[in-house]
Amino acid sequence: MKVVAINGSPRVNGNTAAAFSVMKSVFDSHGIEIEIINVGANVIRGCIGCESCVGKGKCVFNNDIVNAAIDKMRAADGIILGSPVYFSGIAGTMKSFLDRAFFVATREREFRGKVGAAIVSARRSGGSAALDCLNHYIVYSEMTLVGSSYWPIIHGWDAGEAVKDTEGMDTVKMLAENMAWVLMQRDAMKDNLPYPNMEKRRKLNFIR
Ligand SMILES: Cc1cc2nc3c(=O)[nH]c(=O)nc-3n(C[C@H](O)[C@H](O)[C@H](O)COP(=O)(O)O)c2cc1C
Repeated sequence: MKVVAINGSPRVNGNTAAAFSVMKSVFDSHGIEIEIINVGANVIRGCIGCESCVGKGKCVFNNDIVNAAIDKMRAADGIILGSPVYFSGIAGTMKSFLDRAFFVATREREFRGKVGAAIVSARRSGGSAALDCLNHYIVYSEMTLVGSSYWPIIHGWDAGEAVKDTEGMDTVKMLAENMAWVLMQRDAMKDNLPYPNMEKRRKLNFIR
């Protein structure tokens, strides 16, 4: 089994990375592979809503990491989204990345049935709003959102400082344990309990 973790921080050794490192130890202990994709230091333009991706399975902009990352997420059993908190939301580059990647993948509901989890790192506040933002991508994709013993929000300012947030790190560790358990449960049941039939989505735009 494999998990892909998206790090929205421009700091590859920052606090979000510290959380992913704790999660990696847990996954290692269960024989679950994890690949971290660092998106935060890239130049990633936002979605322009052109819908060129419909029927093509890839974004029209092919000059950055988004299309390659979508392929890796398609192949994964689970996806973790992690971001620093910027002005009580997620980092801008992460938002651009997620809007484009998830707009492509949700056209054909390709992430349906995968296991998802999210963490955010804040100096002090705005963590809940940013975590909500990440969770929206997971639940909209019909993935199973995993929880922990508390909201997975860790605290620190300098890169790596969040390792001193012992409760935050315990929460992240529990999140990984719970995610590993859901992944193993999903794997054990895959031949016995198929995912529900995919009902066609009937769109009704609010135009009246
Ligand atoms: C542009 C910017 C905006 C930030 N906004 C917030 C904020 O609203 N709330 C907060 O608690 N911390 C804020 N921070 C601090 C980061 O969230 C914090 O340092 C975080 O741990 C960084 O995670 P990273 O090391 O993974 O990048 C901000 C930092 C930057 C650079």
